Amino acid sequence: MFSKKIACIGAGYVGGPTMAVIALKCPEYKVQVVDINADRIKAWQSDRLPIYEPGLDEVVRKARGRNLFFSSDIDAAIRESDIIFVSVNTPTKTFGEGAGRAADLQYWEKVARQILRASDSPKIVIEKSTLPVKTARTMEQILNANGKVRFEVISNPEFLAEGTAITDLLHPDRVLVGSRETPEGLRAREEVVDIYANWVPRERILTSNVWSAELSKLAANAFLAQRISSINSISALCEKTDADVSEVATAIGMDSRIGARFLNASVGFGGSCFKKDILNLVYISESYGLEEVARYWESVLDINEYQKARFVRTMIHEMFNTIVAKRIALFGFAFKADTSDTRESPAIHVARKLLEERAQLAVTDPKALANARVDLAGLEGVDFLEDPYEAARGAHAVAVMTEWEMYRGLDWEKIYESMEKPAFLFDGRNLLDHARLHRIGFNVYPLGKPALKHF
Ligand code: NAD
Ligand code: UGA
Repeated sequence: MFSKKIACIGAGYVGGPTMAVIALKCPEYKVQVVDINADRIKAWQSDRLPIYEPGLDEVVRKARGRNLFFSSDIDAAIRESDIIFVSVNTPTKTFGEGAGRAADLQYWEKVARQILRASDSPKIVIEKSTLPVKTARTMEQILNANGKVRFEVISNPEFLAEGTAITDLLHPDRVLVGSRETPEGLRAREEVVDIYANWVPRERILTSNVWSAELSKLAANAFLAQRISSINSISALCEKTDADVSEVATAIGMDSRIGARFLNASVGFGGSCFKKDILNLVYISESYGLEEVARYWESVLDINEYQKARFVRTMIHEMFNTIVAKRIALFGFAFKADTSDTRESPAIHVARKLLEERAQLAVTDPKALANARVDLAGLEGVDFLEDPYEAARGAHAVAVMTEWEMYRGLDWEKIYESMEKPAFLFDGRNLLDHARLHRIGFNVYPLGKPALKHF
């Protein structure tokens, strides 16, 4: 009764939302999402999904049980499907050759071997995870090793951002499908294009050779991260020169060649991908002997580390060079707003550094407290509080780590009254109304703008 059977191996931040949208938009396809993590699968089957993403609950509710299924039976899903997306994690390697830089492809290779074992009919295998350029060749070699059945490997990288995943999937800037340019490869490419054509305008579905698709994903993330490091480097210069980084961002962003988006200075970029993908790009460049290229992209990461370190240094310096036993409230722990994800969140770095200086931390976040507890497990001197007012009570400083909209609307007079004086506010996202906070009594330290102090 279903016209196509699709499986997705990996039910994470990419696999879950992506497949939910495909199932929603293509009710005639059967979409099965499988994972080795049984708890994650149970959560996908329940009313409390394993990730927070605006709009996701509704999409899952509409499609689940109709043509969207979550299961732990990976072999059965492989056997039954003609098209298999693989969206397992590809973290940075922590051991051996390329440790700290190269992608750890062990999960991907395991999946490829499992697909091979479980298959008794030809399949299209789609790289949805972000992979080093040339991975498709390795995958083809593994999958087609015993000639049992024929596999076509397609690169279809995912460009969604967390917090806006559902909108990004429903209205993508583009979908990219890369394949071998053989007759079989081109046929497989068209099959994948046809899936997206159910809701994405054809002119937004790009096709390319498989290597361009793999490399475009790494390059897109590197370019995005580079913009943030560029504006963050300018924020440091603004603080020395009384320029205002928001005014500079507006002025340069109005140049249509530069564009206005992704120019918000911050305490640093986080998230599971920018750092790992740039490290990967650096490693690949080095492995082809392109030292200058490697150093160029590495500097994007250097500036990000510098920005996080600089933020902590400012806090310590401005709070009279000691924060021992001082309570500091971290407002937000997620790596960006509208997600519960804290992977590589700059708040982790800031929290650890403040604790090394023996501060007492009160961490608050509307969605990410459970992950924050895991990230800071075993460290002493941290309270985790749902209520931002409770977190700020008795604190010497509030530091905004995540741009949650709700922080703008808090009663800042009430927060000020409950804090130790002088009360400090370090805005790592330039989120708040600094002039107003200053009028209330705070000493305010925005990023890349003159500080507003009372002494
Ligand atoms: P994730 O860690 O949230 O999910 C990966 C899932 O794969 C986990 O649930 C894990 O249990 C499962 N898995 C691992 N090995 C498996 C195996 N052998 N069999 C079955 N399941 C297995 O990761 P994610 O954030 O969804 O990212 C996945 C990939 O997508 C990465 O390559 C990432 O770079 C890329 N990506 C991520 C995002 C994002 O916003 N998170 C966006 C675009 C691309
Ligand atoms: C990013 C890309 O935007 C996606 O296109 C890509 O698919 C994804 O990585 C991936 O491959 O994983 P994501 O990390 O989810 O998405 O979120 P972003 O919106 O890109 O934010 C990343 C980090 O940069 C956050 O910490 C955010 O706060 C920070 N940021 C973003 C800034 O500091 N300033 C900005 O102007 C924009």
